[in-house]
Amino acid sequence: MCYRVVDMTEEAKLRPGSLPPGIFCAADYAAQAHALMEPGLFAHVAGGAGQETTLCANEAAYAQLQIYNRVLEGGDHGTTAIQIVGQSFAHPVFLAPVAHQTLLHVDGEIATARAASAMQACMIASTLSSHAMEDIATIGPGPRWFQLYFQHDRASTLCLVRRAEAAGFGALVATVDAPVQPQGLAAARLGFSLPATCVAGNLVDHPAPPQRALNPDQSLVFQGFMADAPNWADVEWLIREARVPVLLKGITHPDDAARAMSCGAAGIVVSNHGGRALDGAPATLHALPAIRARLGEGVSILVDGGVRSGGDIFKALASGANAVLVGRLQAYALAVAGAVGVAHMIKLLRDELEITMALAGTPTVDRISAASLFRETT
Ligand code: FNR
Repeated sequence: MCYRVVDMTEEAKLRPGSLPPGIFCAADYAAQAHALMEPGLFAHVAGGAGQETTLCANEAAYAQLQIYNRVLEGGDHGTTAIQIVGQSFAHPVFLAPVAHQTLLHVDGEIATARAASAMQACMIASTLSSHAMEDIATIGPGPRWFQLYFQHDRASTLCLVRRAEAAGFGALVATVDAPVQPQGLAAARLGFSLPATCVAGNLVDHPAPPQRALNPDQSLVFQGFMADAPNWADVEWLIREARVPVLLKGITHPDDAARAMSCGAAGIVVSNHGGRALDGAPATLHALPAIRARLGEGVSILVDGGVRSGGDIFKALASGANAVLVGRLQAYALAVAGAVGVAHMIKLLRDELEITMALAGTPTVDRISAASLFRETT
């Protein structure tokens, strides 16, 4: 056989009617979600902070890289299997923490957990999950990690940590890049705000602190939000207390990456919150190589922001990541088709990655490196 055309809709043929029509690649879920979702909610998910320069840069960075087609590297020894923080995963497609998932589908994180479990994808459940983490944890076998937002006091944070450990989450991913987060302008212009009914079911036993009384000359940002923001001492404390590996999510600077590791982090997630926090932050794909160079091989580095295809995943791995997180694609697939949609989206990404690996002559993840990349110089 000289060549084989891989039919990406194989799944649909196996289970006719169970998948939404018109989806041929993972990114097709974005267009379907746009057509189906209430415009304000879609803008909330799709949008970024400020003028969306970072949101756009995240995606554009992938388009600027190309992959060499390396030939005549046949053989049946290919695999997407990887190891991260000493744990084994079938493939490097992780589900990013996405808050309030019942806004997207009636079953929320329960549907996402079903999909992740079926597709052997690591789900990172958000602190702001609509469902309690204990309920998410009962859905089939993992792998499953928990995303931690530091709470206003250490007792409340520690309570979340102990709940996650008791429920069997294999690692904590502490998000540190958004102590204050601007509302997306596109959603605001459409009059969208989170409905009053949108509560984080995971936090029902963690009441919000009373609002700080501010003097008229005090800033809502500095004396308000930032007064409770975590710092490096809190990270050191968390790592001392935790009984599972802790990764820091939201790192874009090599110095912060190095400091995270010297505090005892098990790894980092290079992330700018999908362009939803600091507008103007560098594209994560651009930030990644310098961070890998600083930390060296052997340190677990994940990346997110702008991943829309298996080719993008390959480029992230070639730029120094061990795995990627997908945020918006997950949200779109969940909104369009619930658990089946999320499972299908993961399958499509993995298929696309495998095809890319085969054509790039890198049948195993450890063989993917910067040598596979062609960078346009014009
Ligand atoms: C997020 N993200 C996020 N991150 C986090 O640490 N905790 C959270 O609760 C959320 N919630 C959330 C909601 C929505 C609607 C979006 C779109 C994103 C950020 C997320 O984990 C991830 O960093 C980005 O989504 C990655 O970029 P892409 O894949 O969406 O481009």
